[in-house]
This record gives sequence, structure tokens and C-alpha cells, in this order.
Amino acid sequence: MAKEYWRPGNMLYPVPAVMVSCQSPGEKPNIITVAWAGTVCSSPAMVSISVRKERHSYHILKETGEFVINLVTKELTRAADYCGVRSGRDVDKFREMHLTELPSREIAAPGIAESPVNIECRIKEVIPLGSHDLFLAEVAGVTVEDRYMDENGKFRLSDAGLVAYSHGEYYELGEKVGSFGYSVRKKPGRTSGKKRRQPDG
Ligand SMILES: Cc1cc2nc3c(=O)[nH]c(=O)nc-3n(C[C@H](O)[C@H](O)[C@H](O)COP(=O)(O)O)c2cc1C
Repeated sequence: MAKEYWRPGNMLYPVPAVMVSCQSPGEKPNIITVAWAGTVCSSPAMVSISVRKERHSYHILKETGEFVINLVTKELTRAADYCGVRSGRDVDKFREMHLTELPSREIAAPGIAESPVNIECRIKEVIPLGSHDLFLAEVAGVTVEDRYMDENGKFRLSDAGLVAYSHGEYYELGEKVGSFGYSVRKKPGRTSGKKRRQPDG
């Protein structure tokens, strides 16, 4: 198999590209699109986002210590891209993209109502890394759109049309090819009675 070896660079794909909403007191809320975002701890639930100092949002995050991560769907992709190429210094991104502020329960910054999942976050630590500062945050609360709850109370996130970002391009998630632990799961009818581990890493 022929391979090419490249100098160091970011090639961990696909990743979520999320719309991060934030707001300084008395100002209009802003949205920054962030691809360098991730889950970093299950308990307490913690996430990270990495943001350049040059971003208008950087100062809002530093000042307020909070933000909302809004997951991106196929319908929201154009808005996510726009929020990633225009600055809140120059435009009102909620207004330009016809997005609706969703009041948060635990923090002052609003989420985006059109997103199926809004994750309210409180910043615990800011770690300068180089080009980006990493904002390490604890999840303060999560809002989900109830049209994706089925009759058994299961959240059907796969129905939301979530989008992934890979090497400069946006993709809607496609066909399901497995589920957590399926590689070792016993065939139906031969259950061991053991409690299934949660798919939380
Ligand atoms: C798909 C995508 C992913 C991005 N990921 C990041 C990121 O992880 N961190 C960052 O600082 N900027 C990222 N950006 C760039 C910012 O979203 C962009 O500079 C934005 O205009 C900043 O808005 P603001 O000045 O209103 O904060 C990304 C842009 C796009 C389109």
C-alpha cells in the first residue's frame, strides 16, 4: 500500500462543527462556528472549545465565562458557515441568519432555538496553547428538541440530520453502520443479563 508522509498538521476528521453562542451583558448575542470542539469528560460532563484570540467571541467568552454549544443540522449548515466567516464585530449573526434566541436555564447566554441540542457551558479553565486558547468547560444543562423523542422516551438524535465537518467540507451523517458494543453483543435470545455499558467513552 503506497502512503504519503506529511509534516505535522490537523487531520483528525470528521469532527463536529458547532455553533457557539455567547453574549456580553447589555450587548447583542453572537455566534462563532467552532470545529476544534470536543467532549473531554463524562462525569462531570465537560467539553472544550478552542478559540483564537483574534475572534470577537474570544473576549466575550473570557469576560462572561460561559457559552452554549448548538449542534448543527443540514438546515443550519449555511448559517454555521456564515457564522464562521463573518464577525460579530460587523454583523448581527442571529438577525442575518434569521435565527431565534433560546433563553438558557443556567447561564445568561442564549442558545439557538433552531438547533436540536443546546449545551449550556460554564468555563472552568482557559489554557493558552499557541494559535488557540482552549476553553475547558463544565456542562450546566442540555436542552433537546422534543420532536426527536420517541414513544419509548428514547432520544432519536439520528433523525435530526446532524452534520460533520471533514477537511474543509460539511457532510450530513449517513447510514448507520453499527451501535455501541455491537461487535461483541450476543445474538438476540442469548442475553447474559449483564447491564449494558453506556456509550460514553
Ligand atoms: C467550519 C469552521 C470551523 C471553525 N472553527 C474554528 C475554531 O475551532 N476556532 C476558532 O477560533 N475559529 C474557528 N472558525 C473561524 C471563526 O468561526 C470565524 O473567524 C468567525 O468569523 C469568528 O466570529 P467572531 O469574530 O464573531 O467571533 C471556524 C470557521 C469555520 C467556517
